[in-house]
Order: sequence, then C-alpha cells, then structure tokens
Amino acid sequence: MCGIVGYIGPREAYPILIKGLKRLEYRGYDSAGIAILNDNLQVFKCKGKVSALEAFVQGKPLHATMGMAHTRWATHGEPNDVNAHPHYSQSESLAVIHNGIIENYAILKEGLIKSGFTFQSNTDTEVLVQLIEYFKNSGISLLEAVQLALNQTVGAYAIVVLSKNDPDLMIAARKGSPLVVGIGKDEFFLASDASPIIEYTKDVVYLEDEEIAILQRGQKLKVKTISDVETFPQVHTLELNISQLEKGGYEHFMLKEIFEQPDTIRDSFRGRIQLENNTITMAGIIDHLDKFLNARRIIMTAAGTSWHACLVGEYIFEELLRIPVEVEYSSEFRYRKPVLYNDDILIAVSQSGETADTLAAIHLAKSHGAFIYGICNVVGSSIARATDAGSYTHAGPEIGVASTKAFTAQVTVLTLMALAIAQKKGTISEERLKEIMIALTEIPAKVTQILNKAKEIQEFSKYYTYTRNALYLGRGYNFPVALEGALKLKEISYIHAEGYPAAEMKHGPIALIDREMPVVVIAPNKGHYDKVVSNIQEVKARKGRLISIITEGDVTVKELSDHYVEIPETEEMLIPLLATIPLQLMAYYIAVFRECNVDQPRNLAKSVTVE
Ligand code: AGP
Ligand code: GLU
Repeated sequence: MCGIVGYIGPREAYPILIKGLKRLEYRGYDSAGIAILNDNLQVFKCKGKVSALEAFVQGKPLHATMGMAHTRWATHGEPNDVNAHPHYSQSESLAVIHNGIIENYAILKEGLIKSGFTFQSNTDTEVLVQLIEYFKNSGISLLEAVQLALNQTVGAYAIVVLSKNDPDLMIAARKGSPLVVGIGKDEFFLASDASPIIEYTKDVVYLEDEEIAILQRGQKLKVKTISDVETFPQVHTLELNISQLEKGGYEHFMLKEIFEQPDTIRDSFRGRIQLENNTITMAGIIDHLDKFLNARRIIMTAAGTSWHACLVGEYIFEELLRIPVEVEYSSEFRYRKPVLYNDDILIAVSQSGETADTLAAIHLAKSHGAFIYGICNVVGSSIARATDAGSYTHAGPEIGVASTKAFTAQVTVLTLMALAIAQKKGTISEERLKEIMIALTEIPAKVTQILNKAKEIQEFSKYYTYTRNALYLGRGYNFPVALEGALKLKEISYIHAEGYPAAEMKHGPIALIDREMPVVVIAPNKGHYDKVVSNIQEVKARKGRLISIITEGDVTVKELSDHYVEIPETEEMLIPLLATIPLQLMAYYIAVFRECNVDQPRNLAKSVTVE
C-alpha cells in the first residue's frame, strides 16, 4: 500500500533511495526507513516523514552501492520507530521491507516462536523476515529461503530482501502489491511505481503475482516464480511523466482511487472472510463478542461520506441483528446532550481517523461508559487510538479530498461486522450467511464491470456540465447512496445537489422538478422497485430529466431514462457497493468538464480536524 525503493549498481545508493522515497510521498505514509549493504547490513528507520529519516541518518556512514528504502502505511502495529521498516531477522543478517498484508502472520509467528525466534515489533512483516531466516538457517540459498517462505505466506506482498552474506544480491517479490524493476546499464532499480525510476532508466519490468526478481550485480535480470519456474517478462519503455506516474497514469487521484475499488474492497475483506468454513474473522468483534450480543442499542457516529456509510450500516445491522441502531452526525451528537447508557455501543467511522467532531463524540460516549468501536482507514490515528476496539478498512491512502474508496471499504467492513455478529447471535442462518458472503466476494469483479463503462458515463455526463441543481433519489439501502451521490457532485463540481428518500419527493421536492432539473434515481430490481418506478413516472410527468442506475436487463426504467447505467445483480444489502460507483464517476466527469479542481475542491480539507 505504500512505498518501496531499491538499488544495486555502481552508484551511491543513499541519494537514489532517499530521492525515491520523496517521489513516493504523495501516496501517504506514517514512517520511513532504509537499509544499506556494504561490509555491513545497516538499518535506519523512524516514525514520521522522509525528512525525519534524513535528519536521523545525518552524519551516519552511508556509503554503499546497494540498498532499499520504505515508506510505511501501517496495517498491523501502530506507527512507531520499532514497527517501521526495514525489519531485521533475528541474527540481523537479513533485512526486509514489505508493502501489503500477511494474513496468516499470527499462525506463522506462533510457529516461529516455538522454534526459538523472538520479535521486536508487532508487525506482520517481521514474521516474514524471520520465516526467511528460519529457512535460510537450514543452509539453503537466499532465493530458496525466500521461495519457501513465500509459499507459506497468505496475503499481499511486495517485498525486497537483503542479506549480509549475499553482498551482491537483491531479491524482490510481489503478490497483490505492485513492484516495478528498472533496468539500467549494469544497475537495477526497484520501486512501487515507476516515479522513482524514470529519471535513471525508462526500461522497466512489471513483476507479476508470485514472481521473484533476482538482481545480481553484474548479471542480467533473472525472474523466477515462487515455485522456481523461470519467466521472461516483457521489458516496457516508459512514456509517462512523473506527475502522471504518481497518479498511476490517471488524470487525478480521485479517478485513480475510484478505479482502485475492486482491489480496496477485496483488501477490506481479505483475511476476514473464510468461505471454506463459513466464518468471518474480525478480532475486534470476537474479543468483545459479549458486548455485541448483549447490546440493546448501537449508535453510529461520523461525518460526511462516513456518515452515509453508517446509514447503510444501520439498515444492514437492523435487518440482520434486530436491535435498534441510531446514526448520528458527530457534530450534532457531541452537543445535543444525548441520552446514553453504559451498555450502549458506539461505532465511530472515519477515513482519516482525525475528524474532530467524531473524536469528541467518542469522548462523550466514553464518559457515559459506552463501548467504543472504531472503523478507520489510518492505523494509529487519533480516533483509532481512542476506541476500545476496531477494524481498519485497509483502503490504502486516500489522497483525493472527495472520499470514494474509503466509503465502499467502510460499507464492506460494516457488512462483515453485521454478518459476524448475526452468526454468533443466531439471527442469520448458515445458508443465508454463506449466500451473502459469496455475493460479497463477487463484488470486486462486479465493480470492475461497472468501471468498464466509465467512457459511456463520461459521454453522457457532458450533458450535465452546466446544470445548476440536481436531485438524487433512492429507497431503502439506496437512500444513503442518493445522499452520497449528491455529496460527491456538490463537493467537486459545486453544483447544488440534494439526496432524498424517493418516496419523500411528493412531500416537497417534486415542486422543483422541471426540464432544468436532472433527477438521478437509483432503481435496482430489488427493494420496492415498483414504487421507485412510480416515483420515476412522477418525475417524467413533470418533464424532469432522468438519469437512472438500473439492474442489468431492466427495460421499464431504461425506456423512461434520458441516460442510464446498468449495474450487475447482487444481494439487496450489497447494492450500495455497486450503485455508488457510477455516481462517483458521474460527479468526477462533470467536475472535470467544469474544469474544477477535482482533487482539492475549493474550501474543503481532506480531514476536518477542527470544529
Ligand atoms: C467526503 O467526500 C468528504 N471528504 C467529507 O464529507 C468526509 O467524508 C468527512 O469530512 C469525514 O471525514 P472522515 O471520514 O475522515 O472522518
Ligand atoms: N503490513 C505491513 C505493516 O503494517 C506493511 C504496511 C505497508 O504496506 O506499508 O507494517
């Protein structure tokens, strides 16, 4: 999820490494570190910015012609000096940097402790370097030890390994997290994307999953799989410039993050869904199950997009758990003297983990003895540290001010929580649980199907570039989606937009409908479809322009629509994960047509850390 840089060749490594990390800073991170290999394998690392690392290594002996560097986006183990990468092995003869999540780190760690290994950090990454050492200690080569270790690893990784006893060899491997090899004259570069590499060479190889790059000084690039099969990847010549590279070739971070959602939704349930034994594993729930089983009420508190995620959560929790759920704007909750009981559960949802109102709401609920559960995207953030337990969304850094991938990750985590508790509560059958779990694992591919329609969405969005208002309508699970779609449009295109429950239209907003007012209706074939169709006919009768989000194969609403986007079938409670995607894209393209600053809209901050 964050940044990797590596170098082996004739040049001084340190300047290349530190400059490379600066090229990757845009990705967001919490710690940084480097390892250099000359006669010794030296690791320097610390929490904080790359500039803090530079200050930390000032005056240290940094001469070396090979090394690696890392910016960490913590997933396991809060951001601090010890948890920063690189991680030494026990003997300090190996060092590893890693992007991704080792899902089975706990069971691997148990086995390594039994074999006499001790651990300095509480990261998943340290387990990997110890596992490599465990195999290396049997006298095999570094490559073989890495292959054996990765064959036992479940999860996502982009890693680089250095060994004090292999002073001319750098090994890198990837599965699920990107890794690029730069091929220079008698030198190799490694990085999470090409931005740290492009100034040295334009010839790159993109490693595929389960491929290992063997970078031996003075030799040609060799690539093998973790099963020791040699591969011959294509060498690409880079055409992009640095700024384009930082956005992965997308024009804006927001668009990149919209397109990351198949991966980030998968990452938010990675390691938590076990289809084979029909279970959902969420430590935060399991460790406090009694609280959830005995709760008489759950309060969800958040702001903005995260508040919309809570609304989806409310519908899912109440349907599956049959206990009352209240969703509160943190800014209101903290001041309105709410009635709170000491057996209340408060679920605080926040991408940044720094929203002042949400933090204040937590402190208020805590003062009344409530149990606080956090759903954050930033490990070790203020909100994460203020809660009694929680689950991270693992969506990776969200740079665009308009929240997109965080929303779908939050909804995914809330869905997993409700399913996990319902199973323990016995309010869901094993068969029904399995159905929904399978449907959830199919969501990333269905999101990809919708993203493949981006061009047609861009095409029709053009017609709404100069609209001055818009109305978004949805029922049931899709009412929060209507609110979220409206928020996306207004915050990046500055067009006034309102989200409403579809049935509420005749209680006022219908007076707004005319041919100047585009009406976006989320009209999937589940959940009061016929009633939504009636609402649509009311819009059409008043000459409203209709943009509809419909289920693939729908004919009725399609015929009534000026423009429409078809989304694949799924479970009703999972439709928000799909219906939101076209609305994110529509808002994005309209804002681009209006030449707005999509990634940094006027007056907005990514994290509202003040009241
Ligand atoms: C959403 O696109 C906005 N950026 C904003 O509403 C945001 O969701 C809100 O400020 C809450 O932020 P948080 O999730 O970091 O707490
Ligand atoms: N899971 C590892 C950690 O938490 C790596 C995180 C990253 O991708 O930066 O340290």
